[in-house]
Amino acid sequence: MRYPKFYEMYRDAIRNTWTVEEVDFSLDVNDLTNKVGDAERHLIERLVAFFATGDSIVSNNLVLNLYQHINSPEARMYLSRQLYEEALHVQFYLTLLDSYLPDPEARTKAFAAVENIPSIRRKAGFCFKWIDSIQGLQRIETPQQRRQFLLNLVCFAACIEGLFFFAAFAYVYYLRSRGLLPGLASGTNWVFRDESMHMNFAFEVIDTVRKEQPELFDAGLERDIRAMLAEAIECEVAFAQDVLSGGVAGLSIKDMRQYLEYCADQRLSRLGYAKAYEVGNPFGFMDLQDVQELTNFFERRVSAYQVGVSGEVAFDEAF
Ligand SMILES: [Fe+2]
Ligand SMILES: [Fe+2]
Repeated sequence: MRYPKFYEMYRDAIRNTWTVEEVDFSLDVNDLTNKVGDAERHLIERLVAFFATGDSIVSNNLVLNLYQHINSPEARMYLSRQLYEEALHVQFYLTLLDSYLPDPEARTKAFAAVENIPSIRRKAGFCFKWIDSIQGLQRIETPQQRRQFLLNLVCFAACIEGLFFFAAFAYVYYLRSRGLLPGLASGTNWVFRDESMHMNFAFEVIDTVRKEQPELFDAGLERDIRAMLAEAIECEVAFAQDVLSGGVAGLSIKDMRQYLEYCADQRLSRLGYAKAYEVGNPFGFMDLQDVQELTNFFERRVSAYQVGVSGEVAFDEAF
């Protein structure tokens, strides 16, 4: 095996196996009927609409671009597992939609979010732009093509999984801190872990390329990555302006921007670049979630999740 690390990551992912059936949405439905005000309802509807399309977009890029060009067999094992996990996420959000939006018309509207809701269309447009950027490439040969591929990979890991999804998770944990939607939060714990691992895999691929072809990592690539992250932040801030337009207590657009900058700095550091924003995490409820989540995870693992693999589950990502 030339890249045993990818095989290890595949095995780690298998250890992190969960099913949608174990998530209980019944309390969420009660919250939606009895506890949620108009501003929170708008936030939840937008979130659900984004979730309904986000993971499908990632799956498409995985199959149409990443799998095609990352040809180490052990890395492809990981990508196959990731594809399954993205399908699981889609299943999770479908089940969530069925529970939250029993009205078929409202559900159809949520699915059409990419076309109908400008703040989601803008994020999707950002993703499609980067999917398309290497769609025409049958083979990756020249240094310029290699850099294009790296940019696609960075986009999906650092900007889409690492910013758009992290922002979505922050909304979910904010709601949980207000005692709302525990079903969504418990499923999100699993999705959060999966996405962190997807990012780590992509960064590991980038580390490998850097070791083998350091000359690809020139000043132009760094400039492009920084610009891409800045654009992703603007897309997500525009989404925040929409989802928070009703005025959600304890959650401001300014704090969301700072959280995104904090996440972007983490991605830049992981890529070996200097931070751009130097800000702290403004969301105390995310700190709490890290500690609780890991504790619960390992306790739960022992009692409920013996899937026939022994050993430790690796967590490299600082949430
Ligand atoms: Fe996903
Ligand atoms: Fe993912």
